[in-house]
Amino acid sequence: MAKLVTGGAGYVGAETVRQLVNRGEEVVAFDIASDTYRIDELGKQVKFVRGDLGNFSEVLNVVKDNKVDAIYHMGSMLSWMAELNPWASFRANVLGTYHVLEACRLFGVPKIMFTSTIGTFGLGMNGVITDDTLQRPTILYGAGKLYGEGLGRWYSDKSGLDFRTVRYAQMIGPNVRTPGHWAPPMIEDAILGKPNVCQYGTPETVGSWIYVIDAAKAAVDILDAPKEKIQTMNYNVTGISSVISAKGAAAILQKKYPGFKVEYKMSTDPRRMPRGTWTAFDDSNARKEWSWSPIYTTPEAIIERFEKDLKEYPKRYGLSQ
Ligand SMILES: NC(=O)c1ccc[n+]([C@@H]2O[C@H](COP(=O)([O-])OP(=O)(O)OC[C@H]3O[C@@H](n4cnc5c(N)ncnc54)[C@H](O)[C@@H]3O)[C@@H](O)[C@H]2O)c1
Repeated sequence: MAKLVTGGAGYVGAETVRQLVNRGEEVVAFDIASDTYRIDELGKQVKFVRGDLGNFSEVLNVVKDNKVDAIYHMGSMLSWMAELNPWASFRANVLGTYHVLEACRLFGVPKIMFTSTIGTFGLGMNGVITDDTLQRPTILYGAGKLYGEGLGRWYSDKSGLDFRTVRYAQMIGPNVRTPGHWAPPMIEDAILGKPNVCQYGTPETVGSWIYVIDAAKAAVDILDAPKEKIQTMNYNVTGISSVISAKGAAAILQKKYPGFKVEYKMSTDPRRMPRGTWTAFDDSNARKEWSWSPIYTTPEAIIERFEKDLKEYPKRYGLSQ
């Protein structure tokens, strides 16, 4: 039986494919992208199927043709892409999730995990953000993901589908260039000995970090967990739950890479993610219920692994041919 990873050529999807292949799973990666550089090193260990989540028949075909017994539904148009083309993002993120859930129902796929986002919160991001914090997204991407969380819960109630969600904090790793994400370019510039222009934050802007390897680990771990452990269903997950400010991150980097300089030049780009005065991304339900346990739990540990990945696997992260 095969594990299907939608968005399997993407940043977290490819790492999830790698982790599943490495433990001997049969893996099918489904993605609209024609460029599969992130998973090329896996060769024939992964079957790649090009297709569009917005096309119901293509989703049905990939499930029907591959004896799929679990789905990691990670395919999505991210925040800034969704704002650039809201119509395509509705097809990919909203219809696409419906198509994948219907495919589960029609072909008897028993379980699925879904990747949601901190972007499902929005208005009033104050204090500690828990699984119980009111989700009031201000961006289309967040609204679509919130619908996916609710739709999955509905399929779970109505058809007994074993549905689980991880809601990621801010993704950290080499070559992340998502507008609004100030930390990855800052870390990368420090490692490469370049000055950083922080476009998406003031010194006080905060984030809660999860390293890409941990994001994929969370996807794998949540679907591995025994069903009775899953009570909350849709979970926050992060590597570091307390927030890190841009000036705090810069200070850590300056200690490790003396002479590193940061200039704050706030972008006027409207795609910048909204920020409040939140203080932590609480993932205690995930830790308690299904023993979520990230590998990289301090800024220093994340920066060290970032440097290793940047230097040893540039192709994997799209930084060399
Ligand atoms: N990167 C982040 O900061 C972040 C934060 C929170 C949640 N997430 C979620 O994690 C998941 C993985 O994100 P990522 O960082 O790997 O992003 P990514 O953009 O690298 O990967 C998403 C993949 O989905 C594919 N895709 C887009 N539209 C598609 C369609 N119509 N049909 C088939 N495939 C399609 C893309 O080609 C891409 O390979 C996504 O669901 C995303 O919403 C990411």
